[in-house]
Amino acid sequence: MKKVNVAVVGYGHLGRWHTQKAAGLENANLVAVVEPFNQAAVKEAYPKIKVVADIKEVMNEIDAAIIVTPTSTHFELTSLLLENNKHVFCEKPLCATYDEVVLLADKVGDKVLQVGHSERCHQAWELLSDKFAAITGKRTFKIDRFAPFKGRATDVDAVQDLMIHDLDLMLYILKMSPVSVSAIGHKIITSKWDHVTATFSFEDGSEAIITSGRNHVKEVRALEVMSDSGCIYVDLFANKIYEGSSSKFDDDTFVKESNYEKRDHLLIEQEQFYNSILNNSAPVVNYDDGAKAVFLVSKVMESLDKSERVSLK
Ligand SMILES: NC(=O)c1ccc[n+]([C@@H]2O[C@H](COP(=O)([O-])OP(=O)(O)OC[C@H]3O[C@@H](n4cnc5c(N)ncnc54)[C@H](O)[C@@H]3O)[C@@H](O)[C@H]2O)c1
Repeated sequence: MKKVNVAVVGYGHLGRWHTQKAAGLENANLVAVVEPFNQAAVKEAYPKIKVVADIKEVMNEIDAAIIVTPTSTHFELTSLLLENNKHVFCEKPLCATYDEVVLLADKVGDKVLQVGHSERCHQAWELLSDKFAAITGKRTFKIDRFAPFKGRATDVDAVQDLMIHDLDLMLYILKMSPVSVSAIGHKIITSKWDHVTATFSFEDGSEAIITSGRNHVKEVRALEVMSDSGCIYVDLFANKIYEGSSSKFDDDTFVKESNYEKRDHLLIEQEQFYNSILNNSAPVVNYDDGAKAVFLVSKVMESLDKSERVSLK
């Protein structure tokens, strides 16, 4: 069987899970873990795997790399790998700024560049795709993603860390682009935006209200689409779908509840990545998807900083 020779770059909170998948998948050959600081932990967990401090040390031994380093390093590492003809899986956000994303465009060429928008992997989107497509008329779209403070990713605003998942989901599910955004935010524990609500307007009159925060009192991850056909509510935490329409369901209630499969998102993403490389096919979440999400992040930040509605045209 053909295998992709891969290095995982960054062995922190998420990198150790990416390393576990890369070490276990049969179409990957984990060549090395690149980690300048946390090397002892890698050596303890993977005594037979090479550990280096810099990606350049293993550049000649790999076909591809998985970047799981702080967002501020994504542009430099992705550029370097693409310039060396390597395929790249880059964790979200693709880059720290939209200017960096634009500079990356010419470097992709025929390489696979997949972006880690892992929330795409919920089985709910497959189960609901026909129902989402059948909705006509204006929609009120809502995504809540907040939790009590955990102290992670405080080097960036909640927009880059959390909301970016939902900006990608909004485009993926609604299949249309917003025309303007107005955001309001709060700096609660850190000096950055810890809790943000962004309201996007669409040409057809639809609205998307996305709230992301790391200083809430509750842990909520939920998506809702309200239209004249009724309501679809997905609890992303409990893996449940709730549907309601104008008429009763067979069991004489107005709400139908169902469970969906809880999946290993990182495993799915890595399988997709190696399959794209080995089959020469387009990545499931590509450069354009990563770029659009970072663009919307930049516009939400602009609205927060100016305290005004911002055009997206
Ligand atoms: N898809 C998701 O749901 C999800 C979840 C969490 C984090 N992330 C993303 O993953 C990335 C990493 O997040 P994290 O929470 O694991 O961060 P982290 O700080 O826990 O780990 C980052 C690791 O990268 C190492 N590192 C820094 N510079 C490096 C370099 N040049 N080369 C190699 N290693 C380097 C650090 O020493 C650290 O061990 C972030 O971009 C974050 O947005 C995505």
